[in-house]
Amino acid sequence: MKKKVAVKNQPAAPVNARPFLYRNRTLHCDGVSLTALADQYGTPLYVYSAEQISYRFQLFQQAFASRPHTVCYAVKANSSLAILKLLGEQGAGFDIVSGGELERVRKAHKPALKRVVFSGVGKQAWEIDAALKAGILQFNVESEMELDLLAARAQALGIRARFALRVNPDVFAETHPYISTGLSEHKFGIAITSARAIYRRAARSKWLDASGVSVHIGSQIRKVDPFAAALDRVTALVRDLRHDGHDIRYIDAGGGLGIDYSDAPFDAAHQVERYAAALSKGLASEGAHLVLEPGRFFVAQAGALLTRVLVVKKNGSKTFIVTDAAMNDLIRPALYHAHHEIVPVRKPTGKATITADIVGPVCESGDFFARDRAIAAVKPGDLVVLLDAGAYGMTQASNYNSRPRPAEVLIDGTKAKLIRRRETMRDLLASELF
Ligand code: LLP
Repeated sequence: MKKKVAVKNQPAAPVNARPFLYRNRTLHCDGVSLTALADQYGTPLYVYSAEQISYRFQLFQQAFASRPHTVCYAVKANSSLAILKLLGEQGAGFDIVSGGELERVRKAHKPALKRVVFSGVGKQAWEIDAALKAGILQFNVESEMELDLLAARAQALGIRARFALRVNPDVFAETHPYISTGLSEHKFGIAITSARAIYRRAARSKWLDASGVSVHIGSQIRKVDPFAAALDRVTALVRDLRHDGHDIRYIDAGGGLGIDYSDAPFDAAHQVERYAAALSKGLASEGAHLVLEPGRFFVAQAGALLTRVLVVKKNGSKTFIVTDAAMNDLIRPALYHAHHEIVPVRKPTGKATITADIVGPVCESGDFFARDRAIAAVKPGDLVVLLDAGAYGMTQASNYNSRPRPAEVLIDGTKAKLIRRRETMRDLLASELF
């Protein structure tokens, strides 16, 4: 497949949606062999394709080119500075949920601070202050209490705060219950039915500028209809708010566009087109600057977790493949029963497979990557890869069992760049006092 990434505002030439492919029976990320990476950087190791990340961003830029928009990449999906820099330099904004994420954007690409939206149900005064001083685009406010706090901090600093209420549209998005957010039973947002009164009240404060309305219905959403339904409700609200005299300029449609975690063919360009069409339907003819907050869609399939088999053992009738990566490195299977394809780095010659649980060394039965999975008969020392691990992998990694967190490399064509070194014993103990 053709491999060329478009520069800003030019059409993105097609890039294979899956950057991890076999060449000469060895799995590569773009032009770099994973065996070579393991030799050089050790395992477990997160590996990302810069080309794929840029490609996904450009797909969004193209699909929404006909309307004013800002793509605010959701930092929580993968917050490594090099990845933020890659996207920031191409014009991306960022969706943040903490003062820490704000700091990451500042460090990675300072000019992008003005393209930041700040989401989250529990913002603290110091975080609001930092974001006000940084001149971010908009606060996505999730409660009346937060709005009061925002007004107070804006007044104290003498900086007018642009805000959108994050409304809860009561739309059902078919996804895992832990990552669904758009129903009234969830902690997120403000009931869309109460929004108008809150905007009216906010208009009394000269420190608040009601610049937008925002919505986010959940994550890993594969069907696009729920996005259209949510935006339809938001658009109706925007119409009412404008009628009430509020100068609403931004509609923030949130993130949530899903990917395919199976090994089925995946057409990223088509998925983005369907998504853009659904949002357009929801927006109807209401003009506004559209803000988007994709996270997973940009980075999930661009990344993989490379790990080495430590032990293959049998307990009764079951076979266990123990890898040097564990739930602390990638918690998605344990937390959401998420599926990740697991493939050997060295492509086997035959078709023989074994059925095994692929697990880590952490002392918990929940420490598994796959259960009863048919996989090539690997042996200790072999390398295997957990695919589609670029989103919510490293950002959810922990030091549980006092395990140092993995290193990360970013592949640019045939070059590999270490973007985070492996944690050391010293890092592990650095913040402790005794
Ligand atoms: N905007 C807001 C307000 C969000 O809460 C999220 C994700 C996003 C944008 C980005 O959503 P995305 O495009 O990545 O779906 N740890 C889970 C996913 C949690 C998503 C949380 N919010 C996982 O590993 O699947």
